[in-house]
Amino acid sequence: MRIAVVGSGYVGLVAGACFADLGHEVVLVDNDQKKLAALNAGDVPIHENFLPELLARHRGSRLRFSDDLQHAVHASSAIFIAVGTPPTEQGEADLSYVESVARGIAGAVDSYKVVVEKSTVPVYTCDWVRRIILRNGAQADNFDVASNPEFLREGTGVTDFLYPDRIVIGADSERCAAVLREVYAPMADGTYYAGPESIPRPDRAQLPPPLITTSAKSAELIKHASNAFLAMKISFINAVASICESVGANVQQVCQGIGTDSRIGRRFLNPGIGYGGSCFPKDLMAFRAVARECGYDFRLLDEVISINENQRQRFIRKVRSALWTLRGKKLGVLGLAFKGGTDDIRESPAIELVQLLLQEGCRICAYDPAAHSRAGEVLGSSVQLVENAYAAARGADALLILTEWEEFTSLDLTRLRSELRYPIVVDGRNLFDPDVMAANGFTYYSVGRPAVTPEPLAPAAFAPADQKNGRL
Ligand code: UGA
Repeated sequence: MRIAVVGSGYVGLVAGACFADLGHEVVLVDNDQKKLAALNAGDVPIHENFLPELLARHRGSRLRFSDDLQHAVHASSAIFIAVGTPPTEQGEADLSYVESVARGIAGAVDSYKVVVEKSTVPVYTCDWVRRIILRNGAQADNFDVASNPEFLREGTGVTDFLYPDRIVIGADSERCAAVLREVYAPMADGTYYAGPESIPRPDRAQLPPPLITTSAKSAELIKHASNAFLAMKISFINAVASICESVGANVQQVCQGIGTDSRIGRRFLNPGIGYGGSCFPKDLMAFRAVARECGYDFRLLDEVISINENQRQRFIRKVRSALWTLRGKKLGVLGLAFKGGTDDIRESPAIELVQLLLQEGCRICAYDPAAHSRAGEVLGSSVQLVENAYAAARGADALLILTEWEEFTSLDLTRLRSELRYPIVVDGRNLFDPDVMAANGFTYYSVGRPAVTPEPLAPAAFAPADQKNGRL
């Protein structure tokens, strides 16, 4: 099938590469010449597992890059809109890029096409896109507008796309739904997974993924409601973690106890310094705005947002309770990305905390496995960026863990302790087992678990390499 994907950001690039891997002929349209030149030259602009392999496999054959929207629409049966929908100052989604693409598409609709929203957009966007395309000259029976939301997470976007929990097709006519079913047929009928070159299956994947057909409006709501629910889960457990801290309970045990109820589930119940990224904060505000416009006061979402913001302040208080005064203190920071496995720092709680600590007069030396260049652009010379975790810890009054990078869990704790001026770790992501940290000589603060102080050091606590790391 011939497919156009408009917008080569995270969603567009991953979707385009994955559609090509499913066997479709894909043209990825962008008006940023520099981006197109880089993609054509073989660059991979984002840090995403398996994306380099897919781009290398299909670039120049089943996957082409172009700035010619009209030509791409003319040549395609399905056109996916994956352009940005940044927040306005009022927190609504700014849909001007979507509108401008819809206008551009209209002139090239010369035979039946399905125009698909892939970006996260508020309910009613399908209706508006349809109206704009009609207003700009397309014939009503020559096109339909559908919503096909994406649930990919940064870092695991390719596997999330190819092995999704579900595929949602929001279409208001059978003709339109049939085109989208054809797009996803290699996944829904399982032929993609049987192929010798298919991207490896992640552990949890259920095959084939269920395909859910809904109205376009329901699909639009599914996306916003899913992200809002996940954010709510995180804020819920962060609130429970605060109570655990007050009463001396352990949130990890509480999570185990509630998460094993299959109606609740264990995933997305990790407390920390609050959620960030380019999706949850923006989508919650946008969903809040949609609800307000529909006449529903969705105060639950206000509370989710407020608990999230409060997590940053709670963390600063924790650092203060570990160090007493902050002015002039040297802090080592592990992690700047908004979560592990990505170089993205948009709305990163780690960056926000670093900025707050700088305002308090701290000096900061930070390490992130992937986000240095992006973090450098934002933080400038106010923070010293170093090449590994031990260098970040060197001479520091305390070490702060702000991003849940897997590689931090295998640090050599003896070496880390010897680098620090004082063996104090404040872990905003609960990466380590408190008992192991205490056994390795640390005063260790985490989220929703009692703080621990060093045990008298027995040589055995340091001996076996595989017991050194306190991975949970
Ligand atoms: C999120 C959703 O998980 C995707 O399903 C969705 O498609 C995507 O937004 C989107 O709308 O495009 P993403 O922003 O990549 O994906 O990141 P997540 O893995 O969801 O993490 C979001 C934030 O929540 C991170 O800051 C992470 O550290 C934090 N988090 C996550 C927690 O604090 N606790 C958890 O248990 C899980």
